Amino acid sequence: MPEAAKNDARTGSAAAGPIRFFDLETPKLRLRADIEARWKKVLDHGAFIGGPEVAELETALAAYVGAKHALAVASGTDALVIALMAEDLTSADAVFLPGFTYNASANAILVAGATPVFVDVDAHTCNIDIAHIEAQIDTVKREGKLKPRMILSVDLYGLPADYAALNRVAKKHGMLVLADAAQSLGGAQGGARIGALTDMTATSFYPSKTLGCYGDGGAMFTDDTSRFERWSSIRWHGTDAQKKESIRVGVNGRLDSVQCAVLLSKLTIFPEEMKARERIAQRYRQALGNAVEVQHVPAGSHSAWGLFTIQVDNRDAVQKKLQEAGVPSSVYYFKSLHQHEAFAKYAPKGGLPVCEKLAGRVLSLPMHPYLTDDQIDRVVAAVKSAA
Ligand SMILES: Cc1ncc(COP(=O)(O)O)c(C=O)c1O
Repeated sequence: MPEAAKNDARTGSAAAGPIRFFDLETPKLRLRADIEARWKKVLDHGAFIGGPEVAELETALAAYVGAKHALAVASGTDALVIALMAEDLTSADAVFLPGFTYNASANAILVAGATPVFVDVDAHTCNIDIAHIEAQIDTVKREGKLKPRMILSVDLYGLPADYAALNRVAKKHGMLVLADAAQSLGGAQGGARIGALTDMTATSFYPSKTLGCYGDGGAMFTDDTSRFERWSSIRWHGTDAQKKESIRVGVNGRLDSVQCAVLLSKLTIFPEEMKARERIAQRYRQALGNAVEVQHVPAGSHSAWGLFTIQVDNRDAVQKKLQEAGVPSSVYYFKSLHQHEAFAKYAPKGGLPVCEKLAGRVLSLPMHPYLTDDQIDRVVAAVKSAA
């Protein structure tokens, strides 16, 4: 996430007043008494690490998404790293990921010791292109240097990737799918929620995410009990269930009781907030659909609307017009990952044409559950006046 957006996320907004990109202030005002009561409980019991709030949150999250197991961890990045570490990858193992995502997706693969293989995305959903991933897997197999092991799919802007197709591709090649759902908690596909759509899922509770805490946080989901046990061990320095013997390499990936208390409180209004995001997204789509390209939502998919993103040819001009009208906007992302210095050596031959094109066209508009109709209409008018 670019620095400007992070600052925006930290600052939050007032319930009334200017249009804000994210709104951290309104839920804080709504839940303040409840959060303070939960924090008081943590102060009283003093179990700042591994307190009862952790298990309570994990149970509530697993029930919400419909997965057998949920594990609370210290960040979305830790969720990805732990999931990858648990599969014992080496640099001879290929993990396929879309080029158009946040750098954490690629960083996690490299931190876990595997080799990232970038895949192009679909120009309309902005998610991983199924035909191109199949082509990339075939290329890797033909070259014979790397073994295709995992797919790290990303649900960009909250829209689930095509999990039916990804699960099929993974099965065909004996691979596993890790969903990077940092932006999509609350989304769904084919009647099941994000967190229950594939082998394993990682999400983020960064403050501006659909479910955000008041610091860093994340969670992991799976139905596989032995995988969940490996994750639990890695999260706690690679120790056994008694936390005495080191049985594998691990990290400190715990989420503390104070953050779990915030999330338990925020979960009480999360379904209502998700409905509001959907309503707001539909109002945007109806009003903007003919003027600019809006993200395509395939039948059967439900975005979590972590971000609302349009595509325009004249992005700089549109952004300037929005700024003049007092409408904040942000670009996710200015470059495809293979165009960054840190990942350039993994750039596919011929680049990733769709990722590169999107990087010049995407623009995210204000999106949070507390936008009023009047504010949405002001954003729409500003976009239409420039596009
Ligand atoms: C797609 C994606 N993956 C991973 C992450 C990392 O999450 P965190 O900041 O909680 O480590 C983010 C955060 O912005 C993200 O957008």
